[in-house]
Amino acid sequence: MRVLLFTGKGGVGKTTVAAATAIRCAESGRRTIVVSTDPAHSLADAMDRHLDGTPRQLSEGLWGQQLDSTERLEEVWGEVQEYMVSLFDWAGLAAVEAEELAVLPGLDELFALSDINTLASSGQYDVVVVDCAPTAETIRLLSLPDVLTWYMERVFPVERRLVRLFRPVVSRVTSMPVAGDGVFDAAMRLYERLGGVRDLLSDGERTSIRLVVNPEKMVIAEAKRTATYLSLFGYHVDAVVANRLLPEAVADPWFKAWKAAHADHLASIEESFAPLPVLRAELAPEELVGRALLSDFANDLYGECDPAALMHSGPAIRVEADGGERVLVVPLPFVDRDDLEIGRREDELLVRVGPYRRAVTLPDSLRRRQVTAATITDGALQIRFQRGTE
Ligand SMILES: Nc1ncnc2c1ncn2[C@@H]1O[C@H](COP(=O)(O)OP(=O)(O)OP(=O)(O)O)[C@@H](O)[C@H]1O
Ligand SMILES: [Mg+2]
Repeated sequence: MRVLLFTGKGGVGKTTVAAATAIRCAESGRRTIVVSTDPAHSLADAMDRHLDGTPRQLSEGLWGQQLDSTERLEEVWGEVQEYMVSLFDWAGLAAVEAEELAVLPGLDELFALSDINTLASSGQYDVVVVDCAPTAETIRLLSLPDVLTWYMERVFPVERRLVRLFRPVVSRVTSMPVAGDGVFDAAMRLYERLGGVRDLLSDGERTSIRLVVNPEKMVIAEAKRTATYLSLFGYHVDAVVANRLLPEAVADPWFKAWKAAHADHLASIEESFAPLPVLRAELAPEELVGRALLSDFANDLYGECDPAALMHSGPAIRVEADGGERVLVVPLPFVDRDDLEIGRREDELLVRVGPYRRAVTLPDSLRRRQVTAATITDGALQIRFQRGTE
C-alpha cells in the first residue's frame, strides 16, 4: 500500500500530476484511488468526471473522490460543538456568533486527513493518490495531527479529571454549562482517529510526498521552504516534479531567453534537491483534461519508472552516539540559521522554523542530559547532548 501526496505552489500543476499519476498506477494494474483535499473541485475538472464525497469508479482499477468531511464532522464532533455553543451562549455571545465560533478552524481538514487513513487501511486500494491544496495549506494540514497530539496528551487528561471532580460543584454554584463525558469522548475519538494518520503519513515506506515545481525562481524558492517544513514534521519527500518545461521542439526565437532560463532553473532544481530524483514534464500544447491526455502526460513524466515506487528514501530524525555524547539529528534541508529557534522544556525540544513549530519529545536516552551545542551540518540540525551521568 502506498500513499502519494502532491503539493506545490498555486497553479504549478499539482492536480494534473496527481490525476496523471493515478491513471498510470491504475493502468499498471493497481487498484488506485485519487482524492482531493482542495475544496476547489479541479480534480473533477481535470478528470472530466463528476466526483463527490464517496469513491466513484472512473475506469478499470481507478476511483476518485472529493474529500468532503462536513457530514462526519457533525457526526463525531456534533456533541462538542453543542457544548461549545451553549458555553458561548452562556458567556453572552449571540447565537449566530456562538455557532460560528464553535467550529474549530482546521477541524474539517483534520477529517479529510483521517479519511485518507480510512482509505489506506480499507484494503480496497493499492495506491491512494492525494491532490493537495497549495503548500501553505498543506503544511498547516500536515502539522495539525502533531499539534492536536501535543494538546491532547498534555491538556486533555488533566482537564478531564478536573471537570469530573468539579462538575457537581460548578453546576450548583453557577449556571455555566459543564462539558459532559460525551464531549471528552468525542474529543478522544477524534484523537484516536488522528493517531493513525500521523503514523501513516510520516512512515516513509508507505507515504511519499512529491513537490511539483515550475522552472521559475519563486516557485523553486517556495518548494525549498516546503521541503524544510515537511522535514520538520517528519514527512518524507521522495521526488520533485519539474512541470511545464519548454519542449525542445519550440524553436521560435521569441522563446530563446525563456528556454535558456528554464535550462538554468532545471539545473538549479537538480543540484539543490539532489539526491532526490527530478521527474520532468514538458509544457503540453493544450490544457491537460481527460483521461487520454493525462495518460500520455504520465508516460512522459515517469517513462519506465513505477510511479508508485518509493523513489528516494531520505534520512529520518535519529539519535547518533559520538563517544559518550549523543547527537540528535533533525533533517532540515535548506534551513536558514536565521529562521531557526531551538528551546528545551523538560523532556521536549522545541524547534521553530519560520512560522512553524514542533515539539520533539526526547527519547529516554536524552532526557537527563544537558544540551551543549547545536549546529546545522549537511542539511540537518545537530543537537549535541553531554555525556550521561548514569
Ligand atoms: N505540463 C503542462 N502543460 C500544459 N498545461 C498544463 C501542464 N500542467 C498543468 N497544466 C494546466 O495548467 C492548469 C493548472 O494546472 P493544475 O490545476 O494541475 O494546477 P494546480 O497546481 O493543481 O493548481 P491549484 O494550485 O489551483 O490547485 C490546468 O489547466 C492544467 O491543465
Ligand atoms: Mg489543484
